[in-house]
Amino acid sequence: MATPPLPELEASSGSAFVTTSARAGDGEISRAHAVATLLGWPYVPRTMNLAPLLARRADPLAYVISRAREALCAPGAELTTGPGMFHHVLDLGARHPLAIAVGNAASVVDGTLGLAKDALHIAQLTGAAVTGLEGSLPLATLAEAGLQRLAREGAPWSPAAARVTVVAADAREWLATRLRCVDVVYLDPMFETPGQAAPGFELLRRLALPTPLEHLLEVARRAAKLRVVVRLPRAVALPPGATRVRGQAVDYAVIPAG
Ligand SMILES: C[S@@+](CC[C@H](N)C(=O)[O-])C[C@H]1O[C@@H](n2cnc3c(N)ncnc32)[C@H](O)[C@@H]1O
Repeated sequence: MATPPLPELEASSGSAFVTTSARAGDGEISRAHAVATLLGWPYVPRTMNLAPLLARRADPLAYVISRAREALCAPGAELTTGPGMFHHVLDLGARHPLAIAVGNAASVVDGTLGLAKDALHIAQLTGAAVTGLEGSLPLATLAEAGLQRLAREGAPWSPAAARVTVVAADAREWLATRLRCVDVVYLDPMFETPGQAAPGFELLRRLALPTPLEHLLEVARRAAKLRVVVRLPRAVALPPGATRVRGQAVDYAVIPAG
């Protein structure tokens, strides 16, 4: 997978640190140093279990590198990039609501990449090359490492993972300079909706950019040649001019390019 270098973005630091799993090899330790430099977080050698290492700090957050995967960990919560409901994507194919909403597309920009599950599913459902924009440097780093791992696994999701390129950038700026550059722009911003108080979601919220949909929609409509697709919690109203594609748990708003 082509992986452009991540540009300098502001990383939230506080009491965050980078460490490895217990009994890490030279490869993990060297990767931990590289991630620590990239994020501007201290590298903490792993001398004890993660729980006491986290308990030593107020409001702790660890980027943990192991041979099998990378993860962002806080007490009781962990974020990592995985295939998600990939079996559902394979089972439904063109009948998947995300496939119906995105439609035919050779190129897609996911302007709110997060943990890259939706980007991976869109790459599989459409066959498109997907550029994933993520404004949080720790999340962009995590997603890039996770997608590279998924692409190497020789698993059903590997070809799709290899088609997702991560760019650490603010989508408002990146999209604003690219007129009609891509078939479809996909957005899944941090909506404030009830029922999203799971520990993982709170950790995501701590790291994520809180850009409201209104600040992304117009630049997205200008950057898209065909349409903008927004993942829409049921409680959120449909944006003006949008049509709704119903999913099982969430809907998708489809908005024509502007
Ligand atoms: C709800 S999550 C997306 C989850 C994602 N769809 C997935 O499948 O994992 C929203 C993500 O968008 C990112 N984000 C919000 N505003 C952004 C912006 N202006 N530029 C880039 N990323 C942004 C947040 O940092 C967060 O990681």
